[in-house]
Amino acid sequence: MEKGIFVTGSGTGVGKTVIAGAIAATIKAHGLDVGVMKPVASGAKEIDGKLVSEDAVYLKKIIESDDDDDLVVPVRLKPPIAPTMAASQTGVPVDIDKVWRAYEELTKKHDFLVVEGIGGLMVPINDTLFVADLASKMDLPLVIVSSDYLGTINHTLLTVEYARSRNIDIKGIVINMLKGDSGFVREIEKFSSAPVLCTVPYVEKISVENCVYGDIVEYFCREINISKIMRKET
Ligand SMILES: Nc1ncnc2c1ncn2[C@@H]1O[C@H](COP(=O)(O)OP(=O)(O)OP(=O)(O)O)[C@@H](O)[C@H]1O
Ligand SMILES: [Mg+2]
Repeated sequence: MEKGIFVTGSGTGVGKTVIAGAIAATIKAHGLDVGVMKPVASGAKEIDGKLVSEDAVYLKKIIESDDDDDLVVPVRLKPPIAPTMAASQTGVPVDIDKVWRAYEELTKKHDFLVVEGIGGLMVPINDTLFVADLASKMDLPLVIVSSDYLGTINHTLLTVEYARSRNIDIKGIVINMLKGDSGFVREIEKFSSAPVLCTVPYVEKISVENCVYGDIVEYFCREINISKIMRKET
C-alpha cells in the first residue's frame, strides 16, 4: 500500500482542500488510520495570538483528527501570497526542517497520509525548493485537482507534463466544481497521460471557510475507486 498521496492542483482555489478531505475521509471509512497534512500554509488567520490555517482546520475536522497543529501545519504564514514572498514580507523564513520532521512523525503515526500542496507544483517554498520538490522528497504520488474554468486544459496538462518530467508518480486527476458542459473533461482525458479518476459537481453548500462538507464523502465513497489510490503500483 502507498504511505500516502500528495494532492496538488492546476492552480490555487481549484478545490485541493475539498478533494484532499474527501479522499482522507473515504480512506478512513474503509477502516484505515488516516492523517492529514498541509506542510506550509499562507493566508493563516491570527486567532488568540496563534496563526490558524483554514485548510488544516477543514482537513482535521473531516477526519476528526486530534493531531497537533504543529504536525498538521508546521509552517503557517499570515500574508495570503506565495510562501517565499510571505516569508520575506514577515521576515520569518520557512523552516523546512520542521516540515520534514512533522512529515516523518505523521507517516509513522498513521497508516496513510493525505498531504495538501500549496497552489500548484511550481510555487516556490524557499530559494531552492518548489512544491514539486516537497512531493518528490516525501516520495508520494500525486492526485491532481483541476476545476471548471477557461484555461483548465492547459494548466492541467502542464501540471501532468511537469510531474512526468520530474519522475513524480501520478495517480490521476480529479476534476472539481463541474458546472455545465463537460466537453473540457473529454479533452483532458484525450490528451493527458494520466487518467481522470472522477469528476465532482459544483455543490452550493460546500464551504472550506465554514467547514461544511455537504455529501462529498458519500459521493466519493460511491464514485471513486479508492483502492486504486491506496494501492502501490509495482
Ligand atoms: N465541489 C465544490 N462545490 C462547491 N464549492 C466548492 C467545491 N470544491 C471547492 N469549493 C469551494 O471553492 C473554494 C476553493 O476550494 P478549496 O479551498 O478546496 O481550494 P484549494 O485549491 O484548496 O485552495 P488553496 O489554493 O487556497 O488551498 C472554497 O471556497 C470551497 O469551499
Ligand atoms: Mg486549500
